Amino acid sequence: MVSIKVVNKKLFEIEADAYGFILSEGFNFSKQLKEFATNFFPDLQKLIKKGNFIGKKSDLLILPITVNNKIVHCFFVGIGTKEDSAITMEHYRRVLGRLVKQVANYNCHSLALQLPPHSFFSLSVEELAEQTVTILDMAAYQFDDYITDADRKKNKLTEVVLCAEEKNKKEIEKGVKIGEVIGTAVNEARHLIDLPPSTVTPEYFVEKAKTIAKEYGLGITVFEKKQIESFGMGGLLAVSRGSDIGPRLVILEYKPKKKASQTIAFVGKGITFDSGGLSLKSPIHMESMKDDMSGAAAVLATMKALAQLKPSAQIVGLMPLAENLIDSKSIKPGDIVQFYNGKTAEIKNTDAEGRLILADALAYAVKKYKPDVIIDIATLTGACSYSLGPFYTGLFSQHDDVVDQIYQAASYSGDRVWRLPMGEDYKQAIRSVVADICNIGSKKIMAGATTAAHFLQHFVEDTPWAHLDIAGTAFDVPNISYYQEGGATGAGVRLLIELAMNWQ
Ligand code: BES
Ligand code: ZN
Ligand code: ZN
Repeated sequence: MVSIKVVNKKLFEIEADAYGFILSEGFNFSKQLKEFATNFFPDLQKLIKKGNFIGKKSDLLILPITVNNKIVHCFFVGIGTKEDSAITMEHYRRVLGRLVKQVANYNCHSLALQLPPHSFFSLSVEELAEQTVTILDMAAYQFDDYITDADRKKNKLTEVVLCAEEKNKKEIEKGVKIGEVIGTAVNEARHLIDLPPSTVTPEYFVEKAKTIAKEYGLGITVFEKKQIESFGMGGLLAVSRGSDIGPRLVILEYKPKKKASQTIAFVGKGITFDSGGLSLKSPIHMESMKDDMSGAAAVLATMKALAQLKPSAQIVGLMPLAENLIDSKSIKPGDIVQFYNGKTAEIKNTDAEGRLILADALAYAVKKYKPDVIIDIATLTGACSYSLGPFYTGLFSQHDDVVDQIYQAASYSGDRVWRLPMGEDYKQAIRSVVADICNIGSKKIMAGATTAAHFLQHFVEDTPWAHLDIAGTAFDVPNISYYQEGGATGAGVRLLIELAMNWQ
């Protein structure tokens, strides 16, 4: 984690390895910059001109200079012109991400940074500080637990000092605190996803949840195989049958001090490894299947953050956990399972396992907690990532007011979603001749992401519900500066936190 300090000093009065200047297109030489130049770099204005730096979106100018006999690096980064505020904000996030990576590349460990004007983004001072710190933390994240070459690990940004005017300092500090909680939560989810799948088993995940519950005062319930059997959760049992490690259902509960009028349930898919089962995946598709618990990791990290941020709603986080492996005890295509709510499903493909474990968890959430809204998050279908690619999470819901709130939270948090259709026409896709429903959709209807959502809908009764498919967005997203290529993104964490904090 990056340590963040807020000081009421001028940029150049701060001791740091690097100075960051974020400038918009056609910027004027501000008082700050002028003072900076007068003190350390009389030719700054000329050099900026020579470097063709005008503050365009992708402009970057790096100048090494001497301050108090020490070589430091100045990073001038452009954010372009003001567009639609959400677009501008995403530019800013990427600029920050790029800045963090560059600063680390130059082996600078500390960075002094002047926040750009908050009005540029249509945000408050506090909100801009929150967003900035979230991204600073996310961009500085590296999964290098298993890298033994010290040279590959040394370039890291560890400290950022933000300059604040006295009148803004309190607000900035407030935003920094929130941003730190969010950024840390996102990175915690990423780390859990990035760890190898033989490490992060259902057992390991449960231990992690217990540690978090204890440290942050969340209620926790863990159901193991025996109880899961006695509940009749046939989906969760079926999927775990190919593994020596039994299934688990972990439930974390956050209760606000003042009795809440609303209860939100989050349900996250926790397949700690998806081989496909007897409907075995090809090597290329299996390669990244340690990420199949990204939904559960997002819910766990969100619960940890909410325990600190304290929303006024009550929040329940349910995480069904299992490994989808092969054994003589594995489920077979043709098997029929019965779920917690009594419904039955024909298994035609053992690789469509996520919906089976979510079905039991959703039905349990509805019956036990009677939530006002239920949102599940899952790396559910390759079809969703084919439709939207790695940049948007698929959103499925027939409740327009829930969709509106999710879109709003997505826009503010930067965790982007795109709504895909549900609707009556698709229902027929999961008809089964021998059971209530089938676990894959018919070839004629295709639309695999939508038909998976329809499967889930059978388990939420009439509770307002939305489904988030993060199959494309959870892992190895290219070309976004604040992510790490080949690693987890923490998709959904920023969104769920924002949603819970503002739920109406
Ligand atoms: N975990 C996968 C979905 C997935 C694919 C996640 C790519 C991340 C990246 C899921 O369990 C799965 O295998 N779904 C099948 C369903 C099909 C058999 C109906 C799929 O999408 O191919
Ligand atoms: Zn699968
Ligand atoms: Zn899966």
